[in-house]
Amino acid sequence: MSLLSSVERAPRDPILGLTEAFKADDRSTKVNLGVGVYMDEAGKVPLLKCVSAAQQQLAEGRAPYGYLPIDGLKEYDDLVAGLVLTDPATGQTVVSRDRVAVVQGLGGTGSLKIAGDFLRSISTNGKLLISNPSWENHNALFSRAGFEVQQYPYYDPTGHRVDVDAMVAALGEAEAGTVVVLHACCHNPTGYDLSDQDWARVEQVVRDRGLIPLLDMAYQGFATGIAEDGAAVRRFAASGIVFVTTSFSKTFSLYGERIGALVVACTDADEAARVLSQLKIVVRTTYSNPPTNGASIVATVLADEQLRRQWEAELAEMRDRIKQMRTALVSGLAAARGDIDASHITDQNGMFSYSGLSKNQMVRLREEFALYGLDSGRLAIPALNPANIDRVVDGLAQVW
Ligand code: LMR
Repeated sequence: MSLLSSVERAPRDPILGLTEAFKADDRSTKVNLGVGVYMDEAGKVPLLKCVSAAQQQLAEGRAPYGYLPIDGLKEYDDLVAGLVLTDPATGQTVVSRDRVAVVQGLGGTGSLKIAGDFLRSISTNGKLLISNPSWENHNALFSRAGFEVQQYPYYDPTGHRVDVDAMVAALGEAEAGTVVVLHACCHNPTGYDLSDQDWARVEQVVRDRGLIPLLDMAYQGFATGIAEDGAAVRRFAASGIVFVTTSFSKTFSLYGERIGALVVACTDADEAARVLSQLKIVVRTTYSNPPTNGASIVATVLADEQLRRQWEAELAEMRDRIKQMRTALVSGLAAARGDIDASHITDQNGMFSYSGLSKNQMVRLREEFALYGLDSGRLAIPALNPANIDRVVDGLAQVW
């Protein structure tokens, strides 16, 4: 008997494990509609021009690679706080920088993990709520951080909409001190976001009940625009404590750089300093300090007016292409089979579409048509392009 003989084989990851299966499939017609990665019209992960220009500037500067501070590159942290919290109406952040604790994180997931570990250490009841449904990794990540994870109602599959009444009612019964994970925009996996009025109701109940809001914002700019998509975060920051995780994987197409941040709006500067000191302990005992390159690229772009404008234009291009593919999918399905009404797909935001297909239908899509979407019925729309849309429509029409 070896020490490890009783170790069980874990199931593959529902999202990244699907990419492994996709890679192993040798059918030339295959399409990866699983993972949330933006691909351009040619089916490639783009290198944004603003990123290329920043890389060039950085290469010319040839800075040595020392350790970054535990909380990351200072300029990056400041710029990210600005990006996340600036009110477009005033040009000012909704809370002053000294009231905000920021740590550079390893993408959105790494930032959620720092938040999860810290929040668990101060939690009074060990409870955390996620939406039903939510990103697959939320449950796994927060459970592993030691939380008892439960769900609040979110998606109404018959009406193809958010059931905000049920959501608000459930939050109204949650125990004080419970952490509530909310998707700031581009809800993953459904694509259905809250309206401004819905957000006002959710914020009210979160504050009234003394819940702790944690807003996951991995797609700022993929729904409507940088400022618009940040509205929920600013609303919460203006009314009290809020934890916000952000990621530049998708918005800067910097997936492999693992670059994101945790931003915590606190009550005052002293509180922010104390929170930051604890977040630094979480980072130090997890990976010591973060990597340099992604933060330098993002900071270079955000600090330079022209590069920032270019970034916003490139982000808009990605957003618009996804919207075009949604429209093409809906009209393709209607043309392929008159009885399919997939019009809900154009009501959704961001990278994902909750198609409404069952696990059996998704398995058929994979086995018979080499179309790899998640078992939950989630489809990654940026995988679509003019060369594969007919094939995808055809497969979907046959299992719909
Ligand atoms: C997704 O939901 O597909 C992305 O957020 C990628 C990931 O890490 O799961």
